[in-house]
Amino acid sequence: MTNSAASALDHVDLADPQLFADPDHHRLFRHLRDHDPLHWNPEGVEPGFWSVTRYDDCVAVQKDSVTFSSAGTNVLGQQRWTGDEGSGRMLTHTDGKRHTELRQIVNQSFTPRAVASLEPYLRSVISQSLDQALQEGEVDFVDTVALLPVASIAALLGVPREDWSLLLGLTSTAFGSADQEFQMTPSARVSAAAAHTQLLLYCQDLMDRRRASPRDDIVTRLVDAQRTGSLSEEDAMLFFDLLLLGGNETTRHGAVGALLAFIEFPEQWQRLRADRGLLTSAVNEVLRYVSPSKHVLRRAERDVELHGRRIEAGQEVAVWHFSANRDERAFPDPDTFDITRKPNAHLALGSGPHYCLGASLAAMELRLFLDELCNRVASAAMIAPPDLLATTVISGFKHLRVRMRPV
Ligand code: HEM
Repeated sequence: MTNSAASALDHVDLADPQLFADPDHHRLFRHLRDHDPLHWNPEGVEPGFWSVTRYDDCVAVQKDSVTFSSAGTNVLGQQRWTGDEGSGRMLTHTDGKRHTELRQIVNQSFTPRAVASLEPYLRSVISQSLDQALQEGEVDFVDTVALLPVASIAALLGVPREDWSLLLGLTSTAFGSADQEFQMTPSARVSAAAAHTQLLLYCQDLMDRRRASPRDDIVTRLVDAQRTGSLSEEDAMLFFDLLLLGGNETTRHGAVGALLAFIEFPEQWQRLRADRGLLTSAVNEVLRYVSPSKHVLRRAERDVELHGRRIEAGQEVAVWHFSANRDERAFPDPDTFDITRKPNAHLALGSGPHYCLGASLAAMELRLFLDELCNRVASAAMIAPPDLLATTVISGFKHLRVRMRPV
């Protein structure tokens, strides 16, 4: 990179969602890792904040939750100045003892054993979606995989099957795509707010049903936690909301990104098809390479010196996972997608106390997805270049139009 390009980068606003619609943002973050590993982003689209972009720094910040708190908000965005209703209340927005208490309420629903019981059902969801896509010939793969994450979480929450399509509709409208383009019109905002309210009311109604007739599901656990005083009803509803949101866009774009990675590296596709023993390692590499969650945000609780600069107490620090996952210091040849990569201690699912609660579920969903894709698809090609989401939060796609050749 030339000096003039480097100085031009000093004026880039990392909070600007449009930056991430351009694939070149990877080059910008490489520059930051090499030349400005603790970067101050002055006030622009948002109030100023620090950024860490190297692997070791991202791990250190996330692991030290005493110094770097999650209790304010945990991603960049408007809630930084309008206030975040989850602050100090939601799992993602608490530290220490309260965070542990909240996590314990739902932990046992997310163990590898608990999520394994969903496998046959999730396989059938994936098979149906892929069969339909193959029948259609040319598809937008973002739509093809839409059902998988919602169906997985709905099953764990305990949402009855007859309500899944209702939930899918409400979830898509409420959380929509992370891209601002989909959120800017007043009508889109009104429909999102209305869908959100309906989701919360749906949760309230389901909790009433579980009070009357408990089951082995997450909603019943949320009801039990209200009985023991660990959660208020409103906190339980926020929890329901968080679980729907947490694993939705991340997993969906993880699957879309996986297909794109295999299109870009077709020899890796042939390798996986020839040896399904590589599925687990392939899922890890998909997570590293795609990094569906771009960053998390923390607030410094005291002054901290790093790379010769001072983060002051009260200032926020963005931890850019996707950059850590392409850090040459941690991963040789990081821009190469290699399903046999070892070791592969990627940060796609975070690190430290807030490590992804749905990690086993996400890994299983992606493993089943790749396995069923191998069963059906000999090769895939893009019909148009990928259209990236303009957001700081998710590495995702507005559209990925593809044609798939069946086996
Ligand atoms: C490929 C898919 C996924 C990715 C990349 C991903 C990524 C992450 C990351 C980076 C964090 C850390 C957040 C932080 O430190 O503030 C996180 C936390 C979390 N994830 Fe995931 N996630 C995925 C799937 C899921 C699924 C399927 C669920 C299921 C509901 C889920 C639920 C959660 C929850 C509840 C937390 C908060 C944990 C805590 O604060 O203790 N995630 N995830």
